Amino acid sequence: MTVLISSINEEELESDCIKKEIREYWDRTKEHAFFKDDEEEKAWRNSLLKEFGSKKLKILDVGTGNGSLALVLAGMGHDVVGIDISEGMLSVARKKAEERCVNPDLRIGDAESLEFDDGCFDAVVSRIVLWTLPNPKKAINEWKRVLRPGGKAYTFEIESWGRDKGTGRWIKKNLGLFLTTIIERKNAWKTGHYSKSVNENLPICYEKSSSSAINKVELFRKGGFEDVSVFKMEEVSDISVKNRREVPLRYKLTWGNSGANIWYYIRGCKS
Ligand SMILES: C[S@@+](CC[C@H](N)C(=O)[O-])C[C@H]1O[C@@H](n2cnc3c(N)ncnc32)[C@H](O)[C@@H]1O
Repeated sequence: MTVLISSINEEELESDCIKKEIREYWDRTKEHAFFKDDEEEKAWRNSLLKEFGSKKLKILDVGTGNGSLALVLAGMGHDVVGIDISEGMLSVARKKAEERCVNPDLRIGDAESLEFDDGCFDAVVSRIVLWTLPNPKKAINEWKRVLRPGGKAYTFEIESWGRDKGTGRWIKKNLGLFLTTIIERKNAWKTGHYSKSVNENLPICYEKSSSSAINKVELFRKGGFEDVSVFKMEEVSDISVKNRREVPLRYKLTWGNSGANIWYYIRGCKS
């Protein structure tokens, strides 16, 4: 019994350390991942409107960041709660909410351990968050727990086809980081990423093949969701591809040549 308890504590402790580094990264990053411009935001609104309609739903946005999904959904009239591990990101979300005159409930929370009662949401949404969780399976179970029967969980994801791999990748990545360091006068090796040890503890982080759409579908299925389906977001993807062309060369070198940035979402239903 003692052995079991101490091993659980060790696991929790390790997870706390990983999350601390992740939180500090997002506290520093803040502006990352909001819509590039009004055109992109409009495309997201159109897409979300098709899926969620305008009949008021109670929606939880997990890893809301600077509030991209939460703000649009609140603007459509839904009752939205957005949680995030980073106070820095939430402070940007609150400022953007004020500017837009919307009022989602934005608060600190952990995607893998939700503070809400069973069955209290109609939908749980999340955009590009699963990859950054040490225990995505635990998160999916939690998302299901807080959904009412018949409620739906969503993850919105980007697939970058054509991302180059192999030995040339290492050279390009380091050349990109070198150029960023010179041009932006900051140490790009230090500022851009989680540490190697954190990445090793993220089972579906971007750089791993396990981050594929099919594995995320499996996560939903194994987590007990039914009718798990994948939907391509045409309008959003078109704009993303267009905007991608304007990304500076140093970032393309660092992150890889994404031939096509395709946005999609996975939806699962709780029976
Ligand atoms: C790539 S950003 C996406 C933000 C937002 N969903 C968007 O699409 O703009 C990932 C977000 O997940 C948050 N995050 C990371 N780990 C988390 C956790 N365990 N619980 C809640 N949020 C977390 C980060 O703080 C960050 O805001």
